[in-house]
Amino acid sequence: MLEKVKELYAGKAKSIFTTSDPTKMVMVFRDDTSAFDGEKMEQLARKGMVNNKFNAFVMEKLEQAGVPTHFVSLQGECESLVKNLQMLPVECVVRNHAAGSLVKRLGIEEGKELSPPTFELFLKNDALHDPMINRSHCVSFGWATLEQLDEMERLTYQVNDVLSELFSNAGMLLVDYKLEFGVFQGSIILGDEFSPDGCRIWDKETRNKMDKDRFRQGLGSVIETYEEVGRRLGISFD
Ligand code: TMP
Ligand code: ASP
Repeated sequence: MLEKVKELYAGKAKSIFTTSDPTKMVMVFRDDTSAFDGEKMEQLARKGMVNNKFNAFVMEKLEQAGVPTHFVSLQGECESLVKNLQMLPVECVVRNHAAGSLVKRLGIEEGKELSPPTFELFLKNDALHDPMINRSHCVSFGWATLEQLDEMERLTYQVNDVLSELFSNAGMLLVDYKLEFGVFQGSIILGDEFSPDGCRIWDKETRNKMDKDRFRQGLGSVIETYEEVGRRLGISFD
């Protein structure tokens, strides 16, 4: 176990602390819940703990499947030890069904199956509301190289293969999700988190929303539903 030394960065829902080992950081999952790039903010009891354990479970599944991740170990209820990545300011989104901004932007019917799944890039910038960008923007503005983008796209689709099956076997549809990557000792590694905050999950039968859309759309039972997703996957929150 590595103790937290100094808070380096506080995002909308997580904080990052340095440790005595410069290659490792502690990621703290807070109860703060944000939507619409910080416009809607609330504290939801137990969220930090639930997302920390959810993320650890998913990251371990991904590592087992050969996706390199920054996750090292759980350190406590709301804390995980992670590798110290140089994060790239680019969000990678894969969609298996139409929802969210795709529906608004292109007028596609919500729920339409996308075959093959789409892959999109967004700039991580709340002030600009995370605008959609392309590979050319990434290279011209130095956000990522073509080689890094190729690797991020390959890994994002590999994550889709692993997690679509995992959710499907537990009676859920992985509708879409966002991943963030960073560089560690020269290689592209999956960073940030995978939790119901950064993806869309629907019940396979009823198509009930089981992710942060419950918070965005004021549907209620946000954390209870995150726990239900976790329970179906076999995660214990006790
Ligand atoms: P979108 O439909 O709003 O573009 O989002 C697609 C998916 O990516 C959805 O599961 C939410 C997730 N996402 C985030 O978690 N954070 C973000 O900043 C963005 C742009 C998307
Ligand atoms: N993750 C972003 C935010 O927290 C966007 C969203 O989830 O709506 O504001």
